[in-house]
Amino acid sequence: MTAMTPDQLTQQVISAYAGAPEPRLRELLAALIRHLHAFAVETQLTPQEWMAGIEFLTATGQKCDAERQEFILLSDVLGLSSLVDLVNAADGATESTVLGPFYVPGAPVREMGEQIGRPEDGEATLIRGHVTDRDGKPLNGATLDIWQSASNGLYDTQDPQQPPFNLRGVFVTGPDGAYEFRTVRPVSYPIPTDGPVGGLLASAGRHQWRAAHVHAIVSAPGHRSVTTHIFDADNPYLDSDTVFGVKDSLVRQFRPAGPHDPADVSYVADMDFVLAGQQ
Ligand SMILES: [Fe+2]
Repeated sequence: MTAMTPDQLTQQVISAYAGAPEPRLRELLAALIRHLHAFAVETQLTPQEWMAGIEFLTATGQKCDAERQEFILLSDVLGLSSLVDLVNAADGATESTVLGPFYVPGAPVREMGEQIGRPEDGEATLIRGHVTDRDGKPLNGATLDIWQSASNGLYDTQDPQQPPFNLRGVFVTGPDGAYEFRTVRPVSYPIPTDGPVGGLLASAGRHQWRAAHVHAIVSAPGHRSVTTHIFDADNPYLDSDTVFGVKDSLVRQFRPAGPHDPADVSYVADMDFVLAGQQ
C-alpha cells in the first residue's frame, strides 16, 4: 500500500465540503482549503510552527473587544484589506482604501462647514470639494461620514481626554454636491502595537506608522459607497504606510490658507469624490 500524498488529502478535504448547498460558500471553502493546504506543503510547515500559528490567531481574537479589532489590524498589515478593496473597485470612481479599526457608526450629522474637533486637537484645516457621479453630475443628498485622529495621534475611542464622537461627523450635500468641513491637519500615528499584530511587525522589522490621513465613507442614493482616505502630500510615510493604504489618487496638498480663504483656518485641502452607479 502506498502512502497518501498531500494532493490526495487536499482532494479528499475539498470533496468533503463539495456538498455545501450554497454555491458561493462552496466556492469560497474549496479555494480556502486549496490555498491553505498549498501553504503548508510549500513551506513544509512543522507541527511547532502550526501550533505557533494557532497561538497567534488565538491571541489575536483574545485582543478584540467592542472597540479594539485586532483581526482587522492583522488583515490590514498583511495587505488583505487593501487587496479586497482592489478586487472590488469600480472603474472611474474614487479609489477606496482600508476602513481601519477606528470607525464608529452613528456620528452626529453636522452643519456644512462645521468644525468636527476642538481647537486643542491640532492645526485648523478646511477640507472641501464636490461629490459627483462618473459623468461629473453633482450628487444631491450624498453623505460623507468623516473621522480622524487628533494631533496626539489618538482617536476619541483611544483617548479618555476626548469627548465621544470628537473629530467625527456626517455631512449631507445639497443639489450642488458641494461639501466642506473644518477639522485639524491629520498627523501620522502608530497602529496599536501592544497586541499580537505589534509583535508581528517587530518580528518582521517593519515600522508601525500610518501616513497622515482623514477617513471618509462617501455614499449617495443609487450609488456604490466608497470607503476611502484623504492623504497629506507632505507626509514622510506615503511610501511605507504600515497597512498599504496609500493610493496616488487620494493624496492632496494641505496648503497654507491664503487671503481668499476663511480666516479661521491655517490649511486648506481640496478633494472631490466620484461615485459609480449601482449595478
Ligand atoms: Fe486612521
